[in-house]
Amino acid sequence: MKIAVLPGDGIGPEVTQEALRVLDALQLPGLKLLEGDVGAAGYRNHGHPLPPETLAMAREADAVLFGAVGDPACDNLDRHLRPEQAVLGLRKELDLFANLRPAKGFDGLEELSALRPEIAREIDLVIVRELTGDIYFGEKARHVLLDGRREGWDRMAYAEDEVRRIAHVAFRTAQTRGNRVTSVDKANVLETSRLWREVVEEVAVEYLDVALEHMYVDNAAMQLVKAPGAFDVVLTSNLFGDILSDQASMCVGSIGLLASASLGERQTAYGTFGLYEPIHGSAPDIAGQGKANPMATILSAAMMLRHSFGLEAEAARIENAVASALKDGVRGVDLGGTLGCAAIGEAVCERL
Ligand code: IPM
Ligand code: MG
Repeated sequence: MKIAVLPGDGIGPEVTQEALRVLDALQLPGLKLLEGDVGAAGYRNHGHPLPPETLAMAREADAVLFGAVGDPACDNLDRHLRPEQAVLGLRKELDLFANLRPAKGFDGLEELSALRPEIAREIDLVIVRELTGDIYFGEKARHVLLDGRREGWDRMAYAEDEVRRIAHVAFRTAQTRGNRVTSVDKANVLETSRLWREVVEEVAVEYLDVALEHMYVDNAAMQLVKAPGAFDVVLTSNLFGDILSDQASMCVGSIGLLASASLGERQTAYGTFGLYEPIHGSAPDIAGQGKANPMATILSAAMMLRHSFGLEAEAARIENAVASALKDGVRGVDLGGTLGCAAIGEAVCERL
């Protein structure tokens, strides 16, 4: 079982190290770790945020464990050299079109949610975000208009097959949970969304046991803070999913707690090939200080065991260990506590 470990920038290396410590504590036989540079680290050491050798390593692995990328020192680089291109490039090159971002409340954290405790307690949803299309990957350009004004533009588009395959993922995910899908779009304004809605309706016919509703993204943003417990599976596009998943993390309590799996269709000998990363970024302001909360990355490693290695029991062990650490009051700085990255990793290992 080969894992390509790509720690990246900022707090990426710290949080990845704790996830590896947790994997190590499980003593899984046959695990092989490869390590590669991505992001600003890739640019510094190889001249590109996604060096060809890193991409090759990821392709050769059964799963990728990813930290975070982003570095203010790279803000003025051309877009194709910016650290973010590493994760965007991996998603695209590896055809990881389905991004699962679960958001579930933890016992004992209700008071730390940005929402009232009785509302926060209810949250248990998964965002199924399309990850390789939309305005993220459409043509982009800068022009100078005839009258001299500068203009920037990005093309938003979805082809029907792109919508269809992510819709299937959402419906299948719903079948393992509460059998409800909320498809989030902006069909009152965007043609892209009108096609999205049409295709989702077509796919829904194959899942008569799953209830489907459509919701405009502005309303979804509102409902997510008003009554997050009303959602089960949220199916949405790349851009809307990016925004709503950060919002969902604040309902749970901290962006340091939300994990993600990015999956495609490729099967390995052990499960579905995937890339696993916390939804947070590289947090350059606290990088290298040991202050980051590694729980999101640890939980991402759990998702990796579940989806890429078929190790459901081990995945659940990690998730239970994190939940019980939180219940016992293990708190990083992000949650108003004082524990550092390594101490949190250790607390999780103790509870495994
Ligand atoms: C995320 C991040 C990325 C995204 C960035 C780093 C490109 O915000 O995974 O949510 O926008 O997808
Ligand atoms: Mg984001």
